[in-house]
Amino acid sequence: MDKLDIKLWKLAARGQIVPKRSLLKTPRQIEAIKKSAALNTAVLDHVASHIREGMSTAEIDRLVYDFTTEHGGIPAPLNYEGFPKSVCTSLNNVICHGIPSEYEILQEGDILNVDVSTILNGYYSDASRMFTIGEISPEAARLVRVTQECVDLGLKAAKPWGHLGDIAYAINSHAKKHGYSVVEDIGGHGIGLDFHEEPFVSYVTPKGSEMVLVPGMMFTIEPMVNEGSPDFFIDEDDDWTVYTIDDGLSAQVEYMVLVTDTGVEVLTK
Ligand code: MF3
Ligand code: CO
Repeated sequence: MDKLDIKLWKLAARGQIVPKRSLLKTPRQIEAIKKSAALNTAVLDHVASHIREGMSTAEIDRLVYDFTTEHGGIPAPLNYEGFPKSVCTSLNNVICHGIPSEYEILQEGDILNVDVSTILNGYYSDASRMFTIGEISPEAARLVRVTQECVDLGLKAAKPWGHLGDIAYAINSHAKKHGYSVVEDIGGHGIGLDFHEEPFVSYVTPKGSEMVLVPGMMFTIEPMVNEGSPDFFIDEDDDWTVYTIDDGLSAQVEYMVLVTDTGVEVLTK
């Protein structure tokens, strides 16, 4: 046992949830994962520079597939548990896991989440952004702005030896303050050596709860913020698309972070 093992063991003995040592990335792994994250960011930038009114979400899928593979990467969603495309595109009342389609054409007023995940040399990265098409309603603009603020506040609340619940509390209270709700049963995840690692990251848990944040941990901060009810249903035909139960708008911003000795470092910026 080294010093860190003893510290983790003592925390566990006091009833704290601590990460397994295998969840703490080594400097070499961090370096490799950062390269994957840099490609993932470049893919999102590529989408940002091509997205426009009149384009189908299937065209976004092709942009992602072509750019990723031309740069030596593999889109992580493609064939992941049967997911049929290279990227998730979630439009308006779709909360997440929307499947790109030739029939889904971007129109003025739309808000769209594009969720890009990349495998580079076996290392995984994951991030998403909101895009707005033309002029959008003040209500939609407020939801997108507040969702970004939620994530920024979550980042600020993340401190080494603090808890995942501190991030959740910062996010959920800001969303609630604006009359919004945060989706409960779908959340973030550890990432790096695999697409979805431990821990599950909730954005509705109390301050001081859940796993202790230990330097070397990597996970996503990706709250889904709904205008109305936090409840959802999954499309029965495709088994993926997650819709708001009340047809209200939903927004999401996702960053992938590394816990450091001072806070968290965003790897997908
Ligand atoms: N990027 C999504 C996440 O945060 C990926 C969902 S799995 C997929 O977990 F197959 F839909 F891509
Ligand atoms: Co994710």
